Amino acid sequence: MKILVIGSGGREHALVWKISQSPLVEKIYCAPGNGGIEKQAQCINIKADDIKELKNFALKEKIDLTVVGPEIPLVKGIVDEFEKAGLKVFGPNKKAAQLEGSKIFAKDLMKKYGIPTAEFEVFDNFKKAVSYIKSKKLPIVVKADGLAAGKGVIICKTQDEAIKAVTEIMEDKIFADAGNKVVIEECLEGEEASILAFTDGENIKLLPSSQDHKRIYDDDKGPNTGGMGAYSPAPIVNENLLAFVEKNIIKRTIDGLKKEGIVYKGILYAGLMIKDNKPSVLEFNVRFGDPETQAILPRIETDIVPLILATIDGTLNNVEYKIKNESCVCVVLASGGYPDSYQKGKVIKGLDKIEDSQNTIVFHAGTKKSESGDILTDGGRVLGVSALGKNIREAINNVYTSVGFINFENMHYRKDIGQRALRK
Ligand code: AMP
Ligand code: GLY
Repeated sequence: MKILVIGSGGREHALVWKISQSPLVEKIYCAPGNGGIEKQAQCINIKADDIKELKNFALKEKIDLTVVGPEIPLVKGIVDEFEKAGLKVFGPNKKAAQLEGSKIFAKDLMKKYGIPTAEFEVFDNFKKAVSYIKSKKLPIVVKADGLAAGKGVIICKTQDEAIKAVTEIMEDKIFADAGNKVVIEECLEGEEASILAFTDGENIKLLPSSQDHKRIYDDDKGPNTGGMGAYSPAPIVNENLLAFVEKNIIKRTIDGLKKEGIVYKGILYAGLMIKDNKPSVLEFNVRFGDPETQAILPRIETDIVPLILATIDGTLNNVEYKIKNESCVCVVLASGGYPDSYQKGKVIKGLDKIEDSQNTIVFHAGTKKSESGDILTDGGRVLGVSALGKNIREAINNVYTSVGFINFENMHYRKDIGQRALRK
């Protein structure tokens, strides 16, 4: 098979890495890819949201299967366009992708079908939003309805902060049309975890649980980032909780969508807040998480390609699916300054020292290859180093041993990835 993976982050490198192990695969392309993906795939210079060019490429190269990494092309309807052209593609269609593309769509669906989530109200009027804020207890959460590159959720400790957030979103339009409407909701407490599942619209195969670390500094200090590391499994997710999530969150969501005339196929990602063993949905994503995928895929024993094909064909119940009884920890190495401004073009040293290790994989995110063959930094999150171990403690030791070999100017990473899991 010829496979095209769309995207350029650590998540896409993990997908390419896992797909490349399949005996079903002859050739992998990645658009646009990065400096590390080049090792397993031919990188194609087409942007991840240029649906027309991607479709032309897939038709010209007779691609057998396209796997979409990021949310933007999914929300823009890449799956509908590819299917119309007779191309096989993995991910939800445009209507189903609203689950991530519109927070109001997701919240309304959860309310209608009894899926546990924070209490909320929706506003398209600034003044009404402000008077609602004044009537509610603090802290309170303000969310832009549409996609905002992970920045559209603001947790507000004071009324002034909440009013500032709705002013910026609805009046100043910092997220453009994504902020035409807002969700204002109750702030939940507890511990977060992510549950991802393959679903063909009917059957479900849960991926191993995981937890990411959103803040830039140790002990969850500093601003939010795209994610500074992740581990799998998340000890807070026990068997009972997992069964509850499958039945009352994942299944109810795909069944609810079906009642609305929408068949959901692809990865459904539920971001959960868990308190007293009870989960509530904070958000849905319609794709693999980044960096969760870098901690999840190394734990999947079976070939991922049959799983992807069965998801598309509606035969997910017929495929074999085995998870390794090992833990995995992924540590993100970022450019100093991220998530604000940072410099690019720094030479990354030490990669050769860990290339051959059995239990460690270096996934590239913001990297590129220079003309002389050096790997250079080219983004905020630069690398994701993932290591397996027989438990989280061993995986932490393995991952930080490998991280110690890598170096670039102003490199920043968290030293406490996975520590939370040891406190359980
Ligand atoms: P995002 O991935 O940008 O949608 O942001 C979601 C993050 O915002 C979650 O991972 C939580 O940390 C936080 N969050 C969202 N909704 C709530 C809520 N109702 N209560 C507390 N934290 C929330
Ligand atoms: N790590 C969170 C996400 O992928 O949205």
